[in-house]
Amino acid sequence: MIHLRGISADAVIDESTGAPTVVYWGAPLGHVDPGSITSALFRPVQQGSLDVLAPISVVPEHGSGFQGRQGLSGHRQGGRAWAPRFSTVATVPVEAGIRVEAVDALASLRLITTITLGDLLAVECTLVNEGDTRYLLDALHPTLPLPSHATELLTFDGRWTRELHPVRRQWGSGVFLSENRAGRTSHEHPPLLFAGSPGFGEWSGEVWGVHVAWSGNHTMHAEAMPDGRRYVQAGELLHPGELCLEPGESYAAPTVLGVHGQGLTPASWGFHRWIRRSPAAPRSPRPVLLNTWEAVYFQHDTEHLKALATAAAEVGIERFVLDDGWFGSRRDDTRGLGDWWVSPEVYPEGLAPLIEHVRGLGMEFGIWVEPEMVNPDSDLYRAHPEWALTTDGYEPVLARNQLVLNLAHEGAFQHVLGQLHALLRDHDVSYVKWDMNRNLVQGSGADGAGGTRAQTVAFYRLLDELRALHPDVEIESCSSGGARIDLEVLRRTERVWTSDCNDALERQTIQWGASMLIPPEVMGAHIGPTRSHTTGRVHSLAFRTLTALFGHLGVEWNVLTLEPREREQLADAIALHQRFRSLLHGGDTVRFDPVSNGQGAASHAYGVYSTDRREALVAHAQLTTGMALLPPPVRLPGLLPDTQYRVAQIPLPGAQVVWQASGIELTGAQLAAHGIQLPRQHPESGILLHLVAI
Ligand code: DGJ
Repeated sequence: MIHLRGISADAVIDESTGAPTVVYWGAPLGHVDPGSITSALFRPVQQGSLDVLAPISVVPEHGSGFQGRQGLSGHRQGGRAWAPRFSTVATVPVEAGIRVEAVDALASLRLITTITLGDLLAVECTLVNEGDTRYLLDALHPTLPLPSHATELLTFDGRWTRELHPVRRQWGSGVFLSENRAGRTSHEHPPLLFAGSPGFGEWSGEVWGVHVAWSGNHTMHAEAMPDGRRYVQAGELLHPGELCLEPGESYAAPTVLGVHGQGLTPASWGFHRWIRRSPAAPRSPRPVLLNTWEAVYFQHDTEHLKALATAAAEVGIERFVLDDGWFGSRRDDTRGLGDWWVSPEVYPEGLAPLIEHVRGLGMEFGIWVEPEMVNPDSDLYRAHPEWALTTDGYEPVLARNQLVLNLAHEGAFQHVLGQLHALLRDHDVSYVKWDMNRNLVQGSGADGAGGTRAQTVAFYRLLDELRALHPDVEIESCSSGGARIDLEVLRRTERVWTSDCNDALERQTIQWGASMLIPPEVMGAHIGPTRSHTTGRVHSLAFRTLTALFGHLGVEWNVLTLEPREREQLADAIALHQRFRSLLHGGDTVRFDPVSNGQGAASHAYGVYSTDRREALVAHAQLTTGMALLPPPVRLPGLLPDTQYRVAQIPLPGAQVVWQASGIELTGAQLAAHGIQLPRQHPESGILLHLVAI
């Protein structure tokens, strides 16, 4: 038995079960005899059951009698070796955890499991084919047990422009299953779920969160078993026959990450801290950027873009990002993908004049690419139709008029890498917005077998090789908005584009959900046009500012069209973000239980506490009309109870609501216990509060 102690949770591992078993994962236990846990939780065999109780090991085994979904599925020729049973052969300590090796000599398989616990619980499983025949692997899904009192689930729904919407569900019995076959992390099935004790909230109840760090297909399976036990199983979803291990070959499953906390807010800090320690974690203040997409779409013109850049610099923009439309024949979304050379048609003198202009204004220059794609109407496709990820003999399914480029094909891979390298080598570019705008459909590799996994692995390799060539260039993970937000891509990218929806009301919920996985400094959040391009809603600059403030701020608005007053207010909004940037991007994200309007949230309160809890920035956003005349007092748990705070309203650009009590001094205990009464606010408006310890 091994007792692991993390930042805010403990785990006790029984390594004797072949694939090890997490016998406890939860609140810190102090110094205890780990063996006492198995004694305390011993389950006697019941009538009507097998004579053994198979553990919910990290890879539960049908061969041992496990009656849920086994963690490893596969077989050799003739259906043999389909129900392995592993025995532990070695346990090795690793930093913050253990590595357990187990074998099934009959099935000729070796399973290597690493479990570590720091900011979060990380489980890695590798299967090795030690036989002399091929092993067809269907699934290797790491599994974490949950206690019987985790009876509610928080899962996430989504679609394009409506990502990461939290959904609460009772989880009395049976299976909750979420499967993603999009070939990218997906809008529809984010690889994230939380389970918790009845009625758990942001600061109450016990909460476990599980995430599959993977940017391809995945499955998440949460089962409340008829025998009363519960577990979450998560991993890569493979197409039929997609993965075949030849003798000596191995397969490493995506890392499964688990967080635990008293309430959702503290639980999500585990994910945030892990991202903050990742190799790609942003190390410098996040530059406020202007993205040209909603400002000009495909209407590229150097002089107009220079004027846009000048106006952007005047309001305080620090990074200018040139979006889709600068390359090849790309004048609209029907052609050009794959031709990553500057279009002489729109940039007769190349990009240099624009880049020099941007750099001369003191801004960084960023550029959009979509390296994994090709339009049939492109030079690349005309030269190499065989590089498309399709299945021979079938008419390929297009999406946004484009096909996927088979990055597992070495020629295609080197071609794209070479073009991206040349682009970054020849231009003063410090930022790449890496987009990916379609799901994969019927994409096969050269051998005709499913190619999603190989494509996902090649995508990571392409990012890795490009980063090695250009270590100072930052990369944003964009995928039609937020279809590629996961912790594996965030080991290689400094930012995600959270959604193509810049409507502040929609963003309130999208970012609320996203904040359960990612911290503000990697969450792209833009102030969009007054009338949203994706919903048609009109929002004040104050509400748009309040919403975008709590992310990596950007502007996606044609600032050349602004009235002088709007321009001043936008400059104020950017200055506000810059004033609080180190707090916003270094503190702990906090959310407070939403107030219901009977159907959904009437208002959101959320913010950031400094890690020493001596400063905080808190937003109250009124989403709809409330059921009561006034919103209930906002209570702020988690501050220093005996410390006195001055609580002041920070005016938002153009906002008129005044909080009469601004400047009041209250203790952390008071803020948690009775909170503060805010004034009535119109739907789609809000208030910003700054708290400083006196
Ligand atoms: C989808 C992205 O999410 C948008 O921000 C924009 O870059 C377009 N693609 C460009 O085609």
